[in-house]
Amino acid sequence: MRQVIASAPGKLMIMGEHAVVYGAPCIVTAVDQRVRVAVGPNGEGEIHVKSPNVGLDEYHKKLSQLGVGEVPKSMTFVEHLIKRVYKRYSICSGITLTTESDFSSLFGFGSSAAVAVATAAALSEYFGLKMSKRDIFDEAYGAVLDVQGVGSGFDVAASVYGRTIYYVTPGKVIESIFTGELPLVVGYTGIKADTPTIVRQVAELKRREKWVDSVFGDITTLVERAKIAFQGNNFVQLGKLMDRNQELLGTLNVSSDMLDQLIRSVRKAGTYGAKLSGAGGGDCMIAMVSPELRDAAGEAIEEAGGAWLKVKTGAEGVRLEV
Ligand code: PMV
Repeated sequence: MRQVIASAPGKLMIMGEHAVVYGAPCIVTAVDQRVRVAVGPNGEGEIHVKSPNVGLDEYHKKLSQLGVGEVPKSMTFVEHLIKRVYKRYSICSGITLTTESDFSSLFGFGSSAAVAVATAAALSEYFGLKMSKRDIFDEAYGAVLDVQGVGSGFDVAASVYGRTIYYVTPGKVIESIFTGELPLVVGYTGIKADTPTIVRQVAELKRREKWVDSVFGDITTLVERAKIAFQGNNFVQLGKLMDRNQELLGTLNVSSDMLDQLIRSVRKAGTYGAKLSGAGGGDCMIAMVSPELRDAAGEAIEEAGGAWLKVKTGAEGVRLEV
């Protein structure tokens, strides 16, 4: 029986979070931790999904019921993606779909975006849809918006295109700015960030306080400078820009005690600079570090009560697996 497998990487926001929601640019990198989606036939004309990673052994849905009624939380992105692609390409065959992930959905690596992207690529190959990367981006971002209602789509872009990219919502600019691995150390706080809630809190702050727009303006300037620093391999400068970005995120009240503690500890270990990555409140922090101090910075994260995640960055975007 024919089966196709596609995989897509998770991501880490490097700079520009929150401001990117309002049209400012951001920089995001893909990590070497992937989500894989296998698609095969299903004789009953239904969708069968197995996601053992998230404790979903067997989930069935009739094609006419896609996106309707009760959908388990772990299935929402996959189901909305399938619904969109089926509608756009007028598909009416059932499938069996299996998902598997290298990473915990708790890290904030963008598992929802990655699973939507890998599902779109697997459907494209299975049904011969010839979707371009842009088509995959558009459908996966559409599914994310259907489910969450908010989001710039930077995570979807990282999963589709990979490497390190400069991104403007809603995919207005997607530009690869660096192809190698970044000298980053990543610390996980152990706390799951509630991204949609924090995004709404920032929206509320922006509505009440005029100065928020000037903070977003300052973040834009930092991201533009970071883009130039990437192009010149200037990681020392990138560290400084990250420190300044963290200060600005502090004014938006999106950091947390644990994030601050991990950031302080790696700065003491001699990194070039550090900041939270993503919405804030939890998930991960990142630091630019020279290769000699990488282990010391990782150990500092562990000593401060975080988990050192030894991921590689600048990974390849969505691809078919043999
Ligand atoms: O929490 P994460 O890793 O999904 O990142 C959210 C980044 C925001 O800029 C706050 C929101 C967005 O969609 O860009």
